[in-house]
Amino acid sequence: MGNVGPVTDPPAADRPLPDVDLDALVKTAHDGYRAAHPESARADRRARRVLPGGNTRSVLDFAPFPFRVRSASGVELHTIDGHRLIDFCGNYTAGLLGHSPDLVKRAVIDALDSGWALGATHEREIELAELLCSRFASMDQVRFTNSGTEANLMAIGTALHATGRSGVGVFDRAYHGGVLSFGPDPRERPAPMNVPHRFIPAGFDDASSLDALFADDDLGCVLVEAVQGSGGCRPASPEFLHELRRRCTDDDVVLIFDEVMTSRLAPGGAQQIFGIDADMTTLGKYFGGGMTFGAFGGTAELMGHFDAEQGGTLTQAGTFNNNVVSMAAAVATLRHGLPDEKLAAVNARGEKLRTELNAVFAAADLPLWTTGLGSMLNVHAADDRLVELAFHAALADGIYIARRGFLALSMAITDAHCADLTATIERWTAALAARG
Ligand SMILES: Cc1ncc(COP(=O)(O)O)c(C=O)c1O
Repeated sequence: MGNVGPVTDPPAADRPLPDVDLDALVKTAHDGYRAAHPESARADRRARRVLPGGNTRSVLDFAPFPFRVRSASGVELHTIDGHRLIDFCGNYTAGLLGHSPDLVKRAVIDALDSGWALGATHEREIELAELLCSRFASMDQVRFTNSGTEANLMAIGTALHATGRSGVGVFDRAYHGGVLSFGPDPRERPAPMNVPHRFIPAGFDDASSLDALFADDDLGCVLVEAVQGSGGCRPASPEFLHELRRRCTDDDVVLIFDEVMTSRLAPGGAQQIFGIDADMTTLGKYFGGGMTFGAFGGTAELMGHFDAEQGGTLTQAGTFNNNVVSMAAAVATLRHGLPDEKLAAVNARGEKLRTELNAVFAAADLPLWTTGLGSMLNVHAADDRLVELAFHAALADGIYIARRGFLALSMAITDAHCADLTATIERWTAALAARG
């Protein structure tokens, strides 16, 4: 895959802002959106009476109100307002296979035919564990959860128990779940929903910050995402990750790779790309084929803490941990949905799209740029109103990216869809330039 480079913002950030009234443009975009989405507006008013903020997954909200989806298939979302959208958001990486893939649907229907909510062990969970352990070189054993958040919580708990220490190293802008979220400034107050571990923040992709982190002699584990997804699709440099690996090994600190998003970048995940074996790995998102999913795994020694026969004293609870629907969907996804060549193709397509979008922004001399690796991309701007405008310009043209500028390509996206997105952005930048 292309360049795995430093995360510093490119010179694009220094380009001048267009000489236009951005607030007025945002208002015009919102007015147009409102007029085109009367049913979603009605649904939003209804939702707000019983769902605070009108939703139950905060990231899905955006101004003036989010569209509501009636159905989805392949690369398309169909809204209750009758719009067809090409989906570049890809359920924030969970939708790698595209919407409603047949192979998952069939597996789930088959599984339901033989009963669900068993409250007992079954064979699918073994098959799934075998598939994952053979996919990830550093994973000898694995256990399942219902989300990536839970997987990270379990991995941290395992690591702290194994080391008998209390410190959890994390990086600026890291997002490892709704209760494991860290801002750009380590001195700021922790996110109110965060769990009360003793987190020790360090600078992402900043090897010089590792001295202070490892100076803490009660550091038990470090949780890292090799390409920060929610943090803006920022890839770490190989040097940084190798240095982190070395220091963890030297100090017996458990290195946890959060591969909830990054596992899509190569069959063996980011660890394969960077040539690093983590001690523990967490997974989630697309492996469930769109069903609820999470997993944490690692070396036999660490995971052995869950094995009473080996003297392990940890237990893992969770009514739905081995739920038949997720297990069946994930087995089908791993067996049939992720051929290496398709994974390589979706990541190559993402690289190409990132390059093309950057060329459009450069040609328009606008302070916008796209970072990422493979099929994970994020559009950034010197002024967030530009991202807001790009988001609405794309929506008005029938293309859905995440409001924060995030794109996660699915396997249903073709070169033609990417060309459409690039053309949309090109038209929008030209219109902006013409006003300036
Ligand atoms: C890197 C990373 N880890 C963990 C999570 C949490 O996963 P979930 O939303 O399934 O709890 C996310 C979700 O976006 C993520 O991006």
